[in-house]
Amino acid sequence: MRYLIGNWKANKTLVEVGVWLDQFTQMLSENLRLKEALAKGLFTIVILPPAVFLVNVASRLRGIVGVQTGAQTISEKPPGAYTGEITGAMLAGIASMTLVGHSERREMFGETDDECAEQVARAREAGIEPVLCIRGEHDKISPGAEFIAYEPIESIGTGNNMPANDVVAKMRSLSLPPKCVFIYGGSVTESTASDYLRYPEIGGLLVGGASLKPESFLSIARVFVSESERS
Ligand code: PGA
Repeated sequence: MRYLIGNWKANKTLVEVGVWLDQFTQMLSENLRLKEALAKGLFTIVILPPAVFLVNVASRLRGIVGVQTGAQTISEKPPGAYTGEITGAMLAGIASMTLVGHSERREMFGETDDECAEQVARAREAGIEPVLCIRGEHDKISPGAEFIAYEPIESIGTGNNMPANDVVAKMRSLSLPPKCVFIYGGSVTESTASDYLRYPEIGGLLVGGASLKPESFLSIARVFVSESERS
């Protein structure tokens, strides 16, 4: 099973979310090949909207086989007096996955390896799959993280995606947990997605900019379909 994860980051208004969902569900319903691949479990699509839209997105996507909703981050705190935090207990039943330690959170909001480890634990307690994002070997892999997204900082939002063979070489040099799902993220587009998916070691793609429009996102989903048909 592979994963196509779309991270909207801090983009979109309520109205724009509605338009995205209308277009996405319409385009998906017209694409039999894609629907079949999702129904067969060849891959899963996970949409990560801003937290304020999670319920909205999850309820619109519920019932679409192979399409899930996830969170961009999760609090390392338990429920309690932590104004503004979004806990695992709140996300349970809405988000199937959550990112942990995205480089933007580490660099702009000072999230540390220890906080990431707490977040992984909170996600697990809530039955949510944590996807730990690392920028390289200097980011510690938290115990219990089984999905690791490698996102080299120079590739995020720059258009300079890291070549697939370099990603795989990097993957081999990291001490990853056994049986982990290794995901690449950083300026992936429809035209580069197949380079990564040719490598069986790459278990998925984390897509930012190209997930903001349903057509570019679903073009990448179509690459997942053709790659699964080739193998
Ligand atoms: P990008 O973002 O695809 O826009 O480079 C990827 C990410 O930050 O998850």
